[in-house]
Amino acid sequence: MRVVSLFCGAGGLDLGFIQAGHEIVWANDIYADAVETYRRNIGDHVVCGDITAQKSADIPDCDIVVGGFPCQGFSVANTKRHAGDSRNVLYRELLRVIRDKRPVFFLAENVKGLLHFDGGRAFKRIIADFTKAGYRVAYRLFNAADFGVPQRRERIIIVGTRIDVNFDFSFPAPTHARDGRGGLSRWKGVADALSVLPDPNLPNDIPNHVYSRYKLNFNGYLGHRPLDPSMPAPTVTARGDDRGGVVILPHPNAERRMTGRELATVQGFPLDFGFSGNLSSVYRQIGNAVPPPLAKAIAECFPERRPE
Ligand SMILES: C[S@@+](CC[C@H](N)C(=O)[O-])C[C@H]1O[C@@H](n2cnc3c(N)ncnc32)[C@H](O)[C@@H]1O
Repeated sequence: MRVVSLFCGAGGLDLGFIQAGHEIVWANDIYADAVETYRRNIGDHVVCGDITAQKSADIPDCDIVVGGFPCQGFSVANTKRHAGDSRNVLYRELLRVIRDKRPVFFLAENVKGLLHFDGGRAFKRIIADFTKAGYRVAYRLFNAADFGVPQRRERIIIVGTRIDVNFDFSFPAPTHARDGRGGLSRWKGVADALSVLPDPNLPNDIPNHVYSRYKLNFNGYLGHRPLDPSMPAPTVTARGDDRGGVVILPHPNAERRMTGRELATVQGFPLDFGFSGNLSSVYRQIGNAVPPPLAKAIAECFPERRPE
């Protein structure tokens, strides 16, 4: 089906949709480096600019609108959050495009914190807005580790089906479990996932296989805790630390931080997916992304073509 992608970033979500056989016909993001990455790897249908400046009439017709709207305003990890955060209005842009284009389906992705933001009122309002726009709405909290990603990343996925469309959308069943119970595969450990990559201190031609020299100091704070090599990594974030840099996970060897390529691997990006921009921009684009394997599993639940 034809997909329009808002807040596409480097293209993690879009890559999953493409891997599932769908076609992205238009995409948008305001972040120049992420758009450059997207263009390099996915296609030049991407438009760089503020979504508020993109007229609905200029966006092509499509079957699905997808968008991981910026989550910082909603995230529980952001202590400065409040209901009036101007970034929350970006979700209204997603709603505007859905109302104007009337796709058969939409998919919205966000952090788990969206469920509890403002005492749960924000989420209720979002669901009510989408319902009022004429969609049957379903949502589920996913853990990327349950889909073979070597990372315990929890994200909420909201899917809407236009009320006049005769299709029962169901979310994918996990393929992996922590202990491998129920005939599922065991969660993938981070050390195992990274074992395919060479030592970045030795000469190599792998894209983005360089790391930040920012000192490791295991003090218990986010990005400053040793990893359990046998478990999926904790969430790769795009959040800044108090110095304005991005919080970067340590390598499971506890000797250095992960390279961009290692973080991309923890997010499930293929090895040849290169990221543009300086090291901290690369880390940020990776931390913002939906893991492509999770995106693919969900994208496969949509029909191959527009239902009658
Ligand atoms: C959570 S990320 C989306 C990542 C993407 N779904 C992926 O899988 O790679 C949110 C994106 O919204 C973009 N963004 C923030 N404000 C925007 C605006 N006003 N217009 C367009 N994009 C914006 C950010 O640059 C960021 O790339």
